[in-house]
Amino acid sequence: MKKNLSIVLILVGLLGVALLLPKTDSNIASTTKDKLVTEFKGAYLEEIKPNGNVVEIDMVAAESEVEIFDGVKTRVWSYNGTVPGPELRIKLGDTLKVNFTNNLPQETTIHFHGVRVPNAMDGVPGVTQEAIKPGEKFVYKFTPKDAGTFWFHPHVRTSEQVERGLFGVLIVEDKVDEEYSQDVVWVIDDWRMTDDKQVYNEFNTPMDLMHDGRWGNVITVNGKLNETLNTRPGERIRLRMINTSNARIYIPNLKNLNAKIIAVDGMYVRDVLDLGKLELAPGNRIDVDITIPQEAGGELFKLVDNFGPEEITLAKIKVAGTVVSTPEFDLPTNKRVPLWRGAENIAIDKEYRLNARVKDGGGIEWTMNDKAYPNFDPYTFKYGKFNTMRFTNESARLHPMHLHGQFFKVVARDGKPTDEQYFRDTVLIYPNQSVDVALVPLDKGVWVNHCHILEHAEAGMVTAVTVE
Ligand code: C2O
Ligand code: CU
Repeated sequence: MKKNLSIVLILVGLLGVALLLPKTDSNIASTTKDKLVTEFKGAYLEEIKPNGNVVEIDMVAAESEVEIFDGVKTRVWSYNGTVPGPELRIKLGDTLKVNFTNNLPQETTIHFHGVRVPNAMDGVPGVTQEAIKPGEKFVYKFTPKDAGTFWFHPHVRTSEQVERGLFGVLIVEDKVDEEYSQDVVWVIDDWRMTDDKQVYNEFNTPMDLMHDGRWGNVITVNGKLNETLNTRPGERIRLRMINTSNARIYIPNLKNLNAKIIAVDGMYVRDVLDLGKLELAPGNRIDVDITIPQEAGGELFKLVDNFGPEEITLAKIKVAGTVVSTPEFDLPTNKRVPLWRGAENIAIDKEYRLNARVKDGGGIEWTMNDKAYPNFDPYTFKYGKFNTMRFTNESARLHPMHLHGQFFKVVARDGKPTDEQYFRDTVLIYPNQSVDVALVPLDKGVWVNHCHILEHAEAGMVTAVTVE
């Protein structure tokens, strides 16, 4: 009895000392992290309740021909015979069911880029499913958790299959979308073609691997060389731009129009920003809100790319006809996108160093922490907690890094705090730059994290994280 009492007294004493001790760095950090998670709550859904409506579509990947150049048939691989493939439009809460058949001469899968799907629907061979063999079928079925602009593409030999024309659009509509005069998607794609207008069929060339991937010589918007949107004066338009190129980066701008970015990578921004400064790297999406001025009848506006030294015209907006009244509503935004002030002071949980090296036996491979996929440096993110990750580009090349199944927010560039007023699923890292991102993972599973320059990914620049 006496002995027990002394143990109790010792415990009470220790507790007293513990209470008097100053707060340690690690528990300050954990309370800061808890605050950042609290600030994040409600930014987007943790779970979605399906509304019971199932949108079903049959989709076939096969070789086909399209006419990009007048009178010339270009042989492509496509979904349902067109490039881009089908534009799937569903409402938030709907369940999408894709009955997919692979009629290609190669194995394939479909990955729904940016969509928070159950892990088994993510389309990554060897990670979330087996590759679908030629002649085989697979059913993709899920209820997207977010409204926005998304796209889909294979995740097998991606640099070849996407370049040959395999990609399509998934729009998950939100209530507000209906108020626009027009809701338009511009799929921007870059091709490397031969003189006879065929897809140049050497993929992952040593030159492409050593540099910024496969940059082409033909750019199409919605599969056309001269995509022109017909509008009427006064119309208010939601324009959704998707970069499906293997490697080319754009800085899109609409000249002489007031274009406000309302969404990035599908998700509404906290505060709108002007179009013309934000890169549209492979994988990225940008949605803009534009109003055609009432007095703009007869005008032609241009969508240009300002990434390179020379401006490139990508598409046009033609204004004609009678003036319509402009729909009036507030710019759709998401005020719940956190500021995450102080996030840049939190110790980085996981750093990825991005680099290249010469492979045994010759050729280049791209590495993340000195590993080239299928070898990788595994890491586990904590579900529902504040996690941080740093991309340190040790190479002289561009790397748009894409994480499956999660959205993240850039919190610092080269150590300088940055408040991007939006989430992303893909962030461009410039040569020798470091970018810190933060995320609160709400989707469990094994998710790949890779460069969206498809040649870099093909040459090893892929890793995987687990969320649990
Ligand atoms: Cu669009 Cu794994 O990516
Ligand atoms: Cu890269």
